[in-house]
Amino acid sequence: MLFKQQALLRQKLFVLGSLAIGSVLYLVARVGTLDRLQPICPVESRLPPPDPGQIPLRTLQFKRGLLHELRKGNATKEQIRLHNLVQQLPRAIIIGVRKGGTRALLEMLNLHPAVVKASQEIHFFDNDQNYARGIDWYREKMPFSFPHQITIEKSPAYFITEEVPERIFKMNSSIKLLIIVREPTTRAVSDYTQVLEGKERKNKTYHKFEKLAVDSGTCEVNTKYKAVRTSIYTKHLERWLKYFPVEQFHIVDGDRLITDPLPELQLVERFLNLPSRISQYNLYFNATRGFYCLRFNIVFNKCLAGSKGRIHPEVDPSVVTKLQKFFHPFNQKFYQITGRTFNWP
Ligand code: A3P
Repeated sequence: MLFKQQALLRQKLFVLGSLAIGSVLYLVARVGTLDRLQPICPVESRLPPPDPGQIPLRTLQFKRGLLHELRKGNATKEQIRLHNLVQQLPRAIIIGVRKGGTRALLEMLNLHPAVVKASQEIHFFDNDQNYARGIDWYREKMPFSFPHQITIEKSPAYFITEEVPERIFKMNSSIKLLIIVREPTTRAVSDYTQVLEGKERKNKTYHKFEKLAVDSGTCEVNTKYKAVRTSIYTKHLERWLKYFPVEQFHIVDGDRLITDPLPELQLVERFLNLPSRISQYNLYFNATRGFYCLRFNIVFNKCLAGSKGRIHPEVDPSVVTKLQKFFHPFNQKFYQITGRTFNWP
């Protein structure tokens, strides 16, 4: 009898304990969510004010649930139909610049409940073979989303490829275009570092940066070197401006996105006409990585892959100065056109 009573008591204690733990976990999760959804002070800018009425509540609730399952391929056709999920063409594209921080920008924007990212670079507009497959092929590469969400893709090759502006214009002449830039010489070295790593992986030798960036015959900057050409931002932008007005572009400071990402993200939220939802809670500095990483909720955080943030080789200071002098007039023009000034040398 006594044994039976003790067993009953143990059972009751177990149920009560489980309930208490469950409640605590629920409260912690709820505080996390509330923190995330807390509106933050709007930043002063010339951009239009956000429209908080745009995102229905269910969009916020389902972003990390059903859409996540869909990405893993676990949602059924019935769920897709029931929740009115669609594959939408992007309403904004990160068109460049290679090594400017395009991946970090896309991943950080994806923290926003109304944004859904295309995980892979699609290379639809810069690759003739892909482009020939048609717009439906492109749409099918897009992730599922709710109709009120916006899809964003990034393919940095778009910025420097001749045919792309016209092709994007034909798809959607009012699309929003994001360009993330870094100090041009640093970007060129970052570009070189990526190619160098690829060569080393294949046991191939490669020239030093200095040899590629400076023409040994004339001792001038070698404008045939792709890493140099890509950093002449204004030249590429001018091609885009034949199709799109400057208001349709937003320039992101890639150097600031590394050191202090939130203000840059807030400017993008406003450019995209989204309510401010990304907060400091979503971004934490990881001293081991030396970069900001992403916090979606109390359970799920992630840093970018190790291929982002490589150590750059040391470059001869005289070559750095030569490049900086070379880029200077182009930078001035870029500031003039975009209305965004940087402290580049
Ligand atoms: P480095 O490798 O030169 O440091 P992209 O995604 O366009 O290839 O850009 C890569 C660059 O993104 C990296 O260049 C890195 O500095 C930058 N970056 C910006 N924010 C980052 C972050 N939070 N984590 C990792 N890399 C980041």
